[in-house]
Amino acid sequence: VWMPWAAVVLAYAVGSLSFAVLVSRLMGLRDPRTYGSKNPGATNVLRSGNKAAAALTLLLDAVKGWLPVWAVAQWGGAWGWGPMTVAAVGLAAFLGHLFPVFFRFQGGKGVATAAGVLLAFEPWLGVAVIASWILVAVFFRYSSLAAIVAAVFAPLYYWFGDGAAWDVQAPVGAAVAAMSVLLLWRHAGNIQRLIAGQESRIGEKKAGRR
Ligand code: G3P
Repeated sequence: VWMPWAAVVLAYAVGSLSFAVLVSRLMGLRDPRTYGSKNPGATNVLRSGNKAAAALTLLLDAVKGWLPVWAVAQWGGAWGWGPMTVAAVGLAAFLGHLFPVFFRFQGGKGVATAAGVLLAFEPWLGVAVIASWILVAVFFRYSSLAAIVAAVFAPLYYWFGDGAAWDVQAPVGAAVAAMSVLLLWRHAGNIQRLIAGQESRIGEKKAGRR
């Protein structure tokens, strides 16, 4: 199978658009890499106090994960691209967010982008994972804990819930699992803060250092 590297590289470039930084810049807010957890993500932009900026960051970081996967799933067939490409493009957009080529490879933790990728992989999977995030967030008020729990469940949901043939399930499942592992690794500092009881809750403006 010919690997369509152009689509993968393009998805990585789109994923590299760090919308926490770009939205903050456009709205005249401080750079999110200078306050709170220092993370360029929607949760940290919320610590600026600007809910619209946080919501826009969340939306755009999710769309940049969703769009490349959706486009390849929609039109890739005409080029002879299969599930391998769909999976690789999703992973590439996610990796762009974590290691953005436009921001010295210092990106975010991948929560919103992963949600977008999962919604494009399988809408039911995205909905199930986002619902898990919301459930934990509502009960415990920790964005990071919600992401950690959702990341643990994502591959399990896919494993047990998907009826697709193995040629689809293997590459997409591998991408889902890889995103979960990377996302958990990016939350190492959050995990330490949660254990130490120092993590900031949603709505609080302070956060420990990364
Ligand atoms: O969106 C990432 C979230 O899970 C944690 O962000 O800023 O609290 O480290 P933060």
